[in-house]
Amino acid sequence: MTKEETTTTISPSPSLQGELTLPGDKSISHRAAILNSLTMGEAQILNFAPGQDCLATVTCLRNLGVRIRRTGWDNSPTLSVRGNGTEGLKEAANVLDARDSATTMRLLGGLLSGRPFLSVITGNASLRSRPMDRLIEPLRLMGADISGRGGDAFAPLVIRGKQLHGIEFSLPVPSAQIKSALLLAGLHASGDTTVCQPSPSRDHTERMLSMMGARLRREQNLIYLRPLDRPLTPINLRVPGDISSAAYFLVAGAVHPDARIVVRDCGVNPTRTGIIDALLRMGARLTILNEREEAGEPVADIVVESSDLNGIEVGGDLIPRLIDEIPVLAVAGCFARGRTVIRNAGELRVKESDRIATVSRELSRLGASIEALPDGMIIHGGKTLSGTEVSSHRDHRLAMSLGVAALVARGQTSIRYAHATQVSYPAFWQHIGQLSSCRGDSSELG
Ligand code: S3P
Repeated sequence: MTKEETTTTISPSPSLQGELTLPGDKSISHRAAILNSLTMGEAQILNFAPGQDCLATVTCLRNLGVRIRRTGWDNSPTLSVRGNGTEGLKEAANVLDARDSATTMRLLGGLLSGRPFLSVITGNASLRSRPMDRLIEPLRLMGADISGRGGDAFAPLVIRGKQLHGIEFSLPVPSAQIKSALLLAGLHASGDTTVCQPSPSRDHTERMLSMMGARLRREQNLIYLRPLDRPLTPINLRVPGDISSAAYFLVAGAVHPDARIVVRDCGVNPTRTGIIDALLRMGARLTILNEREEAGEPVADIVVESSDLNGIEVGGDLIPRLIDEIPVLAVAGCFARGRTVIRNAGELRVKESDRIATVSRELSRLGASIEALPDGMIIHGGKTLSGTEVSSHRDHRLAMSLGVAALVARGQTSIRYAHATQVSYPAFWQHIGQLSSCRGDSSELG
């Protein structure tokens, strides 16, 4: 049995109490590593995301000639990145492996399309089944020579880098990965690049590029980027805790009858806080404290306590703001009074698993009443969940969502492929254990 095939068994916890500092935000970590690699100078990135996804980005950058040193092999490593300008990137001697990480593949796909050498990027079986035509098509409009398997639909991607030209492009889906890929391609294009997004998606790339001195302007849903006229400036930062990881504890605290959980130093960028808005609308007892800004990103502490939740409807512009949190929002819906309806979330079908199918199937095994829709699901709350054997389908977000359900279900739940959590949150099961075993010792905040 490989490590990834490990089954974890979770018993319901009588109480969930305590305080957590989360791993660094995955999206910000990818961008901090990539963008600092393009600068002239050295940057320290504290609390870099420790999961396999961001390590894949680091390995790819090293293979492209960037000097990156990692210190601290715990949950909060520090990365020292020495950039040598975009010209410092060199042809890799081998295929670049993005593993499970679409962010690595798509962001590097955009960047490398404009670098004068050959790159081949592949990934694991899950990533090789995810759509890449949405990346290839706009990059080709910029003049890129990029192709993919299956008639340019899938990875591996083959890129013969060349001089690109800026375009005006309207994203057909509100994808932060495609938006970021086009902005990275636009940095060295001739002429300006304009990206129009149908609704706002995470804006970490825009924030970081502006802080590094790129000529970027935003107006409503439009982002205008001028090509670089000088190298980007390195920035040192402490990556805020990942709100996508916090979401598991926000839901666990809200649905558990005896809970008080404090999440410290968590990113609360408004393009990412859809899960907070949704839980508040459901009636969650959730408080945001000590709001501040660090390295251009809003950060806060969040306290959640046992709550009585009501079902809600989510859709429209809220979806990109909580896209990765929908599996655990579905768990909240299972414990809420009435129906929770999730619509306009067809993107879930092309994530690490088809999350509409896998979430519905696995929560139903536990006794939940869920109807899968083409673009979402309807959850009929208030059914008692009972532990049984379920599978994460090797999807980290499903593994953690099932872990949360298991804390409140009756009896034991065995989760197959529980080690999928290594992708974004290697210490997840350990942190669940800490909260389950520590009673009433969370310190006061304010
Ligand atoms: C991400 C963007 C989202 C998200 C993914 C991370 C990013 O994907 O689901 O986990 O870091 O840009 P899309 O942009 O494809 O929606």
